[in-house]
Amino acid sequence: MHKIQVSTSVTIFNDISELQKEDLLLMNKAIEARKKAYAPYSKFNVGAAILLENGEIVLGNNQENAAYPSGMCAERVAIWNAGSHYPGVKIKKLAITASSELSKVDKPIGPCGACRQTLSEYEINQKTPFQVIFMGEVGEIVKTESLLSLLPFSFDSSYL
Ligand code: THU
Repeated sequence: MHKIQVSTSVTIFNDISELQKEDLLLMNKAIEARKKAYAPYSKFNVGAAILLENGEIVLGNNQENAAYPSGMCAERVAIWNAGSHYPGVKIKKLAITASSELSKVDKPIGPCGACRQTLSEYEINQKTPFQVIFMGEVGEIVKTESLLSLLPFSFDSSYL
């Protein structure tokens, strides 16, 4: 028996003003997407923006449903939007932001587990890591160099 350390290295920015140009532009697109979220039940609005290697930016936001589990997260709306419009085009980075109509979201909001799993398929397929940058509405921003760094021991097709 032995123990191992599983660790993830991330960069923390104090706020959006510390982001470099490309990241800032993408986060602003995610904010635009967040403002168009359809979240009448949770009132928790999430926006995601994906920068592709060909320069295109693809957006997504959460889409809720009266039958609650039928809704979908912003990140999966965005990645499937990218996958359906630009199949095979590599993802360079993903920016995520969340706000709530009930309180100020001042902590970084990472993608949920199901979204990490969904996103991991794309990072594995493209054989190149993509960056993930996430924030709340205000405050600190987390940036990681790779989606898989957020999902240790993930499930992939090699197990099938
Ligand atoms: N949500 C996202 O869009 N992304 C996440 O990673 C976490 C949660 C959405 C789903 C639901 O519409 C609302 O936020 C509250 O859970």
